[in-house]
Amino acid sequence: MKGSKIWFVSGLFVLVFLVAQGVDAKISDETRQCLGCHATRMPGLVDQWQSGLHWQAGIGCYECHQAQKGEPDAMSHNGFLVATIVSPRDCGKCHPKETQEQEASHHAEAGNILNTNDGLLGQTVGGEPAVAVGCRQCHGSVVKTLADGTLDPATWPNTGIGRINPDGSKGTCSACHVRHRFNKEQARQPDVCGKCHLGPDHPQKEVYEESKHGIMYAAYKDKLNTAKPKWVAGEDYFDAPTCATCHISATPNQGVTHDVGTRLSWNLRAPISKRTDNWEKKLSNMKDACNGCHGSAFVGGFYKQLDDFVDLYNTKFAIPATEIRSMLMDEGVLTKANFDEKVDWLYWELWHHEGRRARHGAAMSGPDYAWWHGIYDVAKNFYTEMMPEAKEACEKAGKPEVYEKIVAKYIDSDPRHEWFTKGFDPKKVEMIKKYYKDRYDQKVE
Ligand code: HEC
Ligand code: HEC
Ligand code: HEC
Ligand code: HEC
Ligand code: HEC
Ligand code: HEC
Ligand code: HEC
Ligand code: HEC
Repeated sequence: MKGSKIWFVSGLFVLVFLVAQGVDAKISDETRQCLGCHATRMPGLVDQWQSGLHWQAGIGCYECHQAQKGEPDAMSHNGFLVATIVSPRDCGKCHPKETQEQEASHHAEAGNILNTNDGLLGQTVGGEPAVAVGCRQCHGSVVKTLADGTLDPATWPNTGIGRINPDGSKGTCSACHVRHRFNKEQARQPDVCGKCHLGPDHPQKEVYEESKHGIMYAAYKDKLNTAKPKWVAGEDYFDAPTCATCHISATPNQGVTHDVGTRLSWNLRAPISKRTDNWEKKLSNMKDACNGCHGSAFVGGFYKQLDDFVDLYNTKFAIPATEIRSMLMDEGVLTKANFDEKVDWLYWELWHHEGRRARHGAAMSGPDYAWWHGIYDVAKNFYTEMMPEAKEACEKAGKPEVYEKIVAKYIDSDPRHEWFTKGFDPKKVEMIKKYYKDRYDQKVE
């Protein structure tokens, strides 16, 4: 027994040695020289790299970081010409499918944000240093280089999703595949997306956490087989979908996609939601992801509720609020500039914060975001802040008739707003008072 154990152990050593030789043989001479210094200067980084498939395939420091003469970010480094940034174009030499899909996605467009209202808010209302550590860490900067090829510290580091790289390519693969492991397991976790998709104006992470899906993820994250090469919803795991499941990973009938827009039938971040191009196809793509785990009646019911909700947000609040603000501008009550008057801010928060939260809550099954952080806040803003502010602005401008026009056109014409000018139905008010009396033994006016 003891003898065979010794053989087994020494055999294991030989095996490990042979495997290591096999791998080692694939490592290029250039990379060996990088390792000569970096194994002591950055041993943690080297460990990460050695734990992944790139090491096993013989793809090392030099294969990714090598640069050609004439490239703006080529820098001479201990006898080599290297670039610090390994751009999507560089990864695309070996991963063309992923790179093409990524470059065709909205993610790749996220660096062009300067000429937007958010851009104005960031640059002018806030300030450049805040844009660098805020906006650009999520959206990406235009990376500039200095004369020696090193990266301009005013524009780097960041791994913004739409970063414009010195070679002109857009995005960073390491926004999701954090270096230097570059694996699928890590990118399948919801926290990956949560660096950017959170907060008051796009709380997908928080919505997910409060959804049944997030609850199941928290309970069973160790049983989701995220390290498996093949990862199809309903086949390789069932307990919970992650962000990647619904937006990126394989489904029973679709492969992995790096274009995160291919399963979206709505744009839920615009002031007024619109259908996406070719939305029927995209809708069926998403339904196919759900169908890996749910029945089609269940999924159909979910989408009926989502579509009705988006219609409510659009027609009851977003379209009127947008047109009311335009009317105030056209009638000379407000200036045409942004963020110089209170109505501008109220309108901005109505769609950009409250209205997005509501729509994202509805789309990803977070009821508290759909209602309390969502439509409740939209309605409160619309009725108790935006309308009274519009009235006051009209009076201050000496044009009270403009407010009357607004009420006639947008409030009195829609029975859903009737209560705002005519009050609640007195019978209902009595019933509510009785309810509080019965339930809490308290008088509520
Ligand atoms: C002679 C030792 C040595 C060799 C050989 C070497 N490096 Fe380095 N490298 C370093 C040291 C030390 C640093 C860290 C410098 C610092 O901290 O300022 C560094 C930094 C880097 C950086 C970051 C540079 C930056 O501006 O942020 C990259 C990328 C890099 N090395 C890649 C490589 C690659 C790829 C190779 C092989 C082709 C290589 N290195 C070979 C010593 C070496
Ligand atoms: C699969 C491609 C790939 C391989 C292999 C690779 N790198 Fe990198 N490396 C990257 C990417 C991507 C970045 C991030 C640059 C960015 O986008 O800002 C990076 C960044 C770096 C940085 C700068 C980040 C910092 O924290 O200072 C250093 C240094 C570096 N790599 C060294 C190495 C060394 C040494 C090796 C070999 C052990 C290596 N890399 C192997 C892709 C690679
Ligand atoms: C925490 C990360 C983060 C920060 C900080 C951030 N954004 Fe965003 N931004 C996002 C995400 C994520 C979206 C997409 C939201 C969605 O689809 O629900 C987005 C959406 C946008 C859009 C809409 C794009 C479109 O296609 O409709 C603009 C414009 C924008 N951001 C500009 C800015 C500006 C300017 C700043 C700074 C003043 C900023 N953002 C700060 C993550 C961020
Ligand atoms: C928005 C996040 C995100 C970005 C950005 C991203 N990936 Fe991925 N990638 C993923 C996820 C999630 C998976 C795992 C999909 C699955 O479940 O199999 C993945 C898988 C992969 C795979 C394995 C594909 C397969 O079918 O086995 C490769 C290769 C890859 N990515 C390369 C890239 C490259 C190259 C880039 C940059 C052009 C990139 N990724 C950018 C999230 C991302
Ligand atoms: C020189 C070729 C080459 C380059 C450059 C390269 N890769 Fe890879 N990559 C490979 C090979 C080979 C594999 C492993 C074989 C496979 O399964 O595709 C791999 C695997 C992967 C995987 C899947 C790992 C897993 O766990 O299944 C990801 C993710 C990935 N690469 C991302 C990147 C990113 C991001 C870059 C650029 C920063 C990059 N690769 C650059 C060749 C390359
Ligand atoms: C580094 C920041 C960042 C990370 C990480 C990130 N995103 Fe995004 N995402 C954005 C920004 C910014 C936008 C808005 C882009 C625009 O329209 O300009 C966006 C847009 C999207 C969209 C809308 C696309 C469309 O076509 O309308 C989806 C869906 C999405 N992201 C899903 C994900 C998922 C899933 C992950 C994680 C696997 C993820 N994102 C990781 C920043 C990020
Ligand atoms: C159960 C599936 C599912 C999960 C899990 C999921 N989403 Fe979604 N997501 C959806 C659906 C459904 C929509 C709306 C689809 C449509 O437009 O038809 C959506 C829409 C989006 C949008 C588009 C918003 C816009 O502005 O148009 C983004 C961004 C997004 N999700 C990001 C995420 C992130 C980040 C996570 C994880 C924290 C996540 N999703 C988790 C199903 C999911
Ligand atoms: C990987 C499997 C998986 C995928 C994919 C998936 N779900 Fe789920 N879903 C579950 C599990 C497990 C539950 C928890 C059990 C339950 O409440 O029915 C759940 C719960 C739900 C609930 C909450 C039901 C309730 O009564 O609280 C809704 C709504 C839902 N899913 C919708 C969707 C939609 C829509 C999609 C696609 C966009 C989807 N799911 C994709 C596994 C999945």
